[in-house]
Amino acid sequence: MSKVATIEIEGKKYEFPVVVGTENELAIDIKQLRGQSGAITLDPGYKNTGACESAITFLDGEKGILRYRGYSIEELAEKADFLEVCYLLIFGELPSKSQLQKFNTDILDQSIVNEDMKTVLNGFPESAHPMGVLSSLTSALTAFNPKSVNVESEEDMYRAIVKILAKFPVLAAWTLRRKNNQTLYNKDTNIGYVESLLKMMFQKEGKNYKQNKTVVNALDKLLILHADHEQNCSTSTVRIVGSSHAGLFASISAGVSALWGPLHGGANQAVIEMLEEIKADGGDTSKFIAKAKDKEDPFRLMGFGHRVYKNFDPRAKIIKKAADEVLGQLGVEDPILEIAKGLEKAALEDQYFVERKLYPNVDFYSGIIYRAMGIPTEMFTVMFAVGRLPGWIAQWREMRMRKEPIGRPRQVYIGETHRKFKDIENR
Ligand code: ACO
Repeated sequence: MSKVATIEIEGKKYEFPVVVGTENELAIDIKQLRGQSGAITLDPGYKNTGACESAITFLDGEKGILRYRGYSIEELAEKADFLEVCYLLIFGELPSKSQLQKFNTDILDQSIVNEDMKTVLNGFPESAHPMGVLSSLTSALTAFNPKSVNVESEEDMYRAIVKILAKFPVLAAWTLRRKNNQTLYNKDTNIGYVESLLKMMFQKEGKNYKQNKTVVNALDKLLILHADHEQNCSTSTVRIVGSSHAGLFASISAGVSALWGPLHGGANQAVIEMLEEIKADGGDTSKFIAKAKDKEDPFRLMGFGHRVYKNFDPRAKIIKKAADEVLGQLGVEDPILEIAKGLEKAALEDQYFVERKLYPNVDFYSGIIYRAMGIPTEMFTVMFAVGRLPGWIAQWREMRMRKEPIGRPRQVYIGETHRKFKDIENR
């Protein structure tokens, strides 16, 4: 029998269907609530609001489970490569050999970025933050691809998807090259997706770029771990911008801006800055734990806590292990890793963090690996964006194909009621 929820408002009862997900998640379908009762729901930060039904990513924050299209993140990080995961997220199934080959070729065919984009890039000062530049460049791409994608046409959708997958890493690499005032390169089409990203970032003029397998593998894994995370802040942004039928590139550009904030993707940069501060201060982690607990102090332990995970973030577990391996293989000794481990141990034993179920999140250790790879701190969130791109695309595609209505929440107005206009002399 189908489940029903009853809501009583001022003595009157209303019944609403209860939707059950494939993992038995329950949701009260309140689409008819306002029509029937005149009331709306109030949920700032959408802590209890399901904005959509989605078949892409499942996560259980209490149990620490994360799966893309049903496959566990642990298995994907170990056995798949980033491009396979892109395909899986966007199209729903792991690709066959020939599907993957075609996908790769189609991306490579679209990888040249219009020369005029360099003029846009060079308009930014070298001091500009790479995330701001990336968001602007992605938005600027719409100038060369102005039409909204025809979602009735599989072909149109596919072309837009491979275009953004091809050009986005080029733009990401260019944000770093601009910062360092270096020559801009396009993709090397003879090497893999991750290899070419690294080469575009670090290639020295007139010199051969030598790939480091440890770095390539670690970056591939990091991108997979960041590839989707259901309805987080940036993904919801992409879906809501796309819901007005704005183009894919414009929607992704908005997602980049949302990701930039230190409470979201920007946390990976903030973690390293915090660890550096602790180191410079003499390495006393207890002082910073106390600061984080002090409600008068705005300081938060960056890389700790998560809106959904009230248990270990499964991605953090994989990254912590990878950080040890990568630093070992590269022969990097980073005192910051020891501070991070000490901080994690102290926080996990502290009543404040235990009670609030605050665990290390994906960003707590990712910055340490990026640093070991030689990626500058300001580029960390850009790397996150490259990883999150397939998730944004998959969610945007799902939203458009399901013909979801324009995203437009309501509000409870708490301002002045009607009042008479005052002439300027009388104010
Ligand atoms: N340090 C200290 N206290 C914290 C922290 C933290 N990092 N995170 C949460 N808390 C406390 C809050 O002060 C609050 O305490 P209270 O109940 O006494 O008022 C309680 O824990 C609940 O916190 P909320 O802010 O209500 O939780 P919310 O779900 O809104 O926020 C968030 C989640 C934004 C991730 C938060 O934990 C945070 O700011 N963490 C640090 C930033 C960070 O690492 N962000 C990356 C998240 S992962 C990602 O986006 C990829």
